[in-house]
Amino acid sequence: MSIHDMPRSIVPDPAHRLRRFRRTASLRELVRETRLHPRQLVAPIFVQSGRRQRAPISSMPGVSRLSPDEVVSEAQRLAQLDVGGLILFGLPADKDAIGTGAWIEDGIVQETLLRLREADLDLVLIADTCLCEYTDHGHCGPLDGHGAVINDEAIRSLAQTAVSQARAGADIVAPSAMMDGQVAAIRAGLDAKGFADTSILAYAAKTASAFYGPFREAADSAPAFGDRRGYQMDPANRREAMREMAIDVEEGADALLVKPALPSLDILARAHDRFDLPIGAYQVSGEYAQIEAAAQLGWIDRRRTHLEASTAIVRAGASFVITYAAANLAAWLREGNG
Ligand code: PBG
Repeated sequence: MSIHDMPRSIVPDPAHRLRRFRRTASLRELVRETRLHPRQLVAPIFVQSGRRQRAPISSMPGVSRLSPDEVVSEAQRLAQLDVGGLILFGLPADKDAIGTGAWIEDGIVQETLLRLREADLDLVLIADTCLCEYTDHGHCGPLDGHGAVINDEAIRSLAQTAVSQARAGADIVAPSAMMDGQVAAIRAGLDAKGFADTSILAYAAKTASAFYGPFREAADSAPAFGDRRGYQMDPANRREAMREMAIDVEEGADALLVKPALPSLDILARAHDRFDLPIGAYQVSGEYAQIEAAAQLGWIDRRRTHLEASTAIVRAGASFVITYAAANLAAWLREGNG
C-alpha cells in the first residue's frame, strides 16, 4: 500500500508541532540553546626559534610553525578577532633524553611568553606543560632501562617546567603528560615559588588517540619507539576517565580538559554534570585535519562543519574549546552563523 492510499482518518494530525520554531531564522535564533562565542575559543600555536618565519604544516592547512615575533603578530590578530586565548607548544632547537628545553629560562616557550606579556594583549596565555617535544626519544618524560617513562621523575620535571612558564607570564599551565600525581606536583611547585595565582588546566581525560597524528608532525614529537598507551588513557574507558578527573580535582586542578573532543562527547557531558569547575575540550589535530581534508575535496562545507563541530562540543558541556579553527570560527561568528 502506498502512503497515498492511507486515509486521513487513520493518520492523526500531529499533537506537537516542533517545526513551528524552525520556520524562520529569527525564530530559530530565539530558541537556540547553545551559542558559540569567540571568547570561548583557544588557538593552539606552535613556536620555533628564528625570526620572521612561518612554516606551514602540510597535514594541517592554515596552521604554521611560527617564530616568536610571528607569534606576537598572530596573537594580535587573535585578540582583534576577540578570540579568548592561545595555548603554546614549543619546538626547541635542541633535544635531550630528559627534555631540558622544557624548563630552561631561555626556552622557546618562555621567550615567547615574555614577548606576549610585553605586548599586553587581551588574551589568556596558556602553556602546554609536557616533555615530549623536548625529549630526543619523544616520550613524555625520562625513560627507565625498559623504555618506560619514570613517572615520579617526570612529575618533578613537569613541576619545574610549569614554574618556568608561570615565571615567563603564563596565566594557565596545562599539563598534558598523563603522569600520575602531575597536578599535585605542579601545584606544590607553583605555590612554593610564589605563583599561587597561576591556574592549572589539567588534561585530565586524555586518551591514547589516533587523532593526534598531524600534531606529531607539527610538533615533531612522535615517539621514536613504541607508543603512549603506557600513560595515556584507553579510549574505551569512560569510568576511568571520571576517576582521572576526580583525582585531578582533588590534586588541585582549576579546570579540566577532555581530549580529543568529538570522540569524547559522552565523557564531556558526564564531566559537566559531575564536576563544578570549568571544563574545556581540545578539538585535536586529526579532528581538524579531517574537516579540512574533506572540505578541500569538496565533500563537506568547511565553515558549516567547523561551526557544527564546535557547537556540539560546547553543547556537550565544554566552557571553552581549544581548536585550530579558532581564528576562522571567530571571523565566521562575527559575520553571523544563522
Ligand atoms: C603533548 C600533546 C599532544 C597533543 C597535545 N599535547 C600529543 C600527544 O599526546 O601525542 C595533541 C594535540 C593535537 O593532536 O592537536 N603530550
